[in-house]
Amino acid sequence: MGKTITICNQKGGVGKTTTAINTAAYLASFGKKVLLIDMDPQGNATSGLNIDKRSIDKSIYDCLLGSTALDEIIKKVHPDNLFIAPSSLDLTGAEIELVGAVAREYKLKKALAGLEEDRFDFIIIDTPPSLGLLTINALTACKEIYVPLQCEYYALEGLTKLLYTIDLVKKNLNSEIEIKGVILTMADFRTKLTQEIISEIKSHFNEKVFKTIIPRNIRLSEASGYGKPILLYDKNSTGAQKYRELTEEFLKRQTISQPQEIKDESGPAEKTYPTSEVGQEGSTRPPQQQ
Ligand SMILES: Nc1ncnc2c1ncn2[C@@H]1O[C@H](COP(=O)(O)OP(=O)(O)OP(=O)(O)O)[C@@H](O)[C@H]1O
Ligand SMILES: [Mg+2]
Repeated sequence: MGKTITICNQKGGVGKTTTAINTAAYLASFGKKVLLIDMDPQGNATSGLNIDKRSIDKSIYDCLLGSTALDEIIKKVHPDNLFIAPSSLDLTGAEIELVGAVAREYKLKKALAGLEEDRFDFIIIDTPPSLGLLTINALTACKEIYVPLQCEYYALEGLTKLLYTIDLVKKNLNSEIEIKGVILTMADFRTKLTQEIISEIKSHFNEKVFKTIIPRNIRLSEASGYGKPILLYDKNSTGAQKYRELTEEFLKRQTISQPQEIKDESGPAEKTYPTSEVGQEGSTRPPQQQ
């Protein structure tokens, strides 16, 4: 099976889906066979690749519930080499319906195991803004985790919970997972403080932070509205160029030695990740109003 990657951050609107769609599309345009799995009941990756959620008869929900093979729900989308396992609104119920199920955290992993070996080079999982069972299923099924962070003051808020959840999954369900990258999104370089925020994030995650920073670019949000990855909507836009660069950097990282671990949290990171109480959220704070 191809390399399975989860894009997650339980914070809403940080660019998970935009990153999932556009890196998947660029990987496909580079000749990789890519499956994007939409684990979010909102279905933004599904509609962002021009699949009408209402027209879907079977979705990832049916695979998680075990009634359908993953292969049966996969749809070919554009560009060539890109496929999606769509979401549907039913998925909202899966969290509850799976509560009493045996091995409920392994449902996606099991569905993936049914795929033909070597059918895909990369399987990218887009997750909802929560740390519920759908996200846990994604973390249990993958090897690598990528965390998008929006370049704003509260970027680090909630990360304690995310790191704690990943740690729990690693100890109990999937010892192979690791955060492989942190992707900075929606940077607005017109504001002076953007650089400060970027430095702060880098001081926590060091080499994990991708050198390519995704700027705020209206063409990216337009593209998803039109159901297209940016490379098919406006390949000359800054958003397109940056997602292309990000994908190239991602591929380069696949071949070179892996970046160093996240800095020990007992160091300066303590300031923003209070470890004493899991769930107590740290954050970069805005300066006092002048
Ligand atoms: N770099 C960007 N520039 C401008 N708009 C962006 C950019 N990245 C994402 N957006 C827009 O911001 C909104 C949130 O992005 P996105 O849906 O990718 O976030 P998300 O983390 O997947 O959200 P959710 O948590 O709801 O799933 C969308 O409307 C998207 O089009
Ligand atoms: Mg999303």
